[in-house]
Amino acid sequence: MHGGPDADGVPAHDLSTNANACGPYPPALRALQAADARHYPDPAYTALTVQLAAWHGVAPSRIVVAASGSEFIQRISVAVALQARGKSGAAARVWLPAHAYGDYAHAARAAGLERTDVTADAALLWACDPSSPLGQPHAGLAEQVAALQGAQTLVLDQAYEPLRLDGALALDASAQDRVWRLLTPNKALGLTGVRAAYVIAPHDVDAPLLARVRALAPSWPLGAHGVALLESWASVDAHDWLDRCRATLRRWKTCQQAVLQEAGWRVEPSLANFVVAAPVDGTRVAAWPALLAGLRQHGFKLRDCASFGLPGHARLAVVAPAVQDALRSALDVVAAGSTVA
Ligand SMILES: Cc1ncc(COP(=O)(O)O)c(C=O)c1O
Repeated sequence: MHGGPDADGVPAHDLSTNANACGPYPPALRALQAADARHYPDPAYTALTVQLAAWHGVAPSRIVVAASGSEFIQRISVAVALQARGKSGAAARVWLPAHAYGDYAHAARAAGLERTDVTADAALLWACDPSSPLGQPHAGLAEQVAALQGAQTLVLDQAYEPLRLDGALALDASAQDRVWRLLTPNKALGLTGVRAAYVIAPHDVDAPLLARVRALAPSWPLGAHGVALLESWASVDAHDWLDRCRATLRRWKTCQQAVLQEAGWRVEPSLANFVVAAPVDGTRVAAWPALLAGLRQHGFKLRDCASFGLPGHARLAVVAPAVQDALRSALDVVAAGSTVA
């Protein structure tokens, strides 16, 4: 299950993805409009790789470009499954957080990885910080990274790091160097329609695994628009802009939490530009599908959290005050209808 456009088209007010409501980043939009789609990109992405590596202060050999975050989730799952099977013959195991992006489990099933609750038994471990849907730090992240054994791969999904409104990642530089860091800036730049991501491999990466990850990529995973997006992202100007966005989003978030609470919703704590919330009223929870459908009819799409293991809850991106006003009206109208139902 995903947020965003559906069979009814693009929602007038889409709170179901966590795209930065202050976006899109204007220079990235201009770069997309100017992207030269007449030619294939450089299949090795030489200049882009050098730019991303310089931006992060790492060797270019550690950068892996991906068609999207979701594409890399599939690719690393298959790569780890094949590497681990090659060593022992047994199916490798994966460890997932309790509430997480559904693609981790989906990719694990497709790759034949078996779920385990024991981190020490896992060949592949997933962490996301700030997490989705709850926008929380990954519990025990530093300890989990410190305990990693040589044959284990931990992927830290940093999709929402640029949209972290409070606190900081609990990993120092050397701990970050031990994990695969997945960066997918389309949400932060407010351009989720562009599919592009990249990964920073660990400093002492298992060379055969890295080779396998590269070999599993199709030719030209990124198109001209993906290249343009990542080039725009790796710049001081983009990060200054993001700094200003975070200041705005913090203010908007405080107002939005109040709007939801006044409408009778309980709002869970979050560090990011999105919150999980649920109606406090039990009658309304029973009428949950009708309530979401009613909001959709009023132009508001929220992300149902059932597939995250949180039934009766919705995830909402922080939006501008005018949209919050409209949300408040829609919540009142729809809740009145669903209570009667
Ligand atoms: C936590 C998380 N990681 C990764 C992704 C995938 O991002 P994309 O495929 O747009 O790069 C998403 C998308 O919603 C997400 O929520």
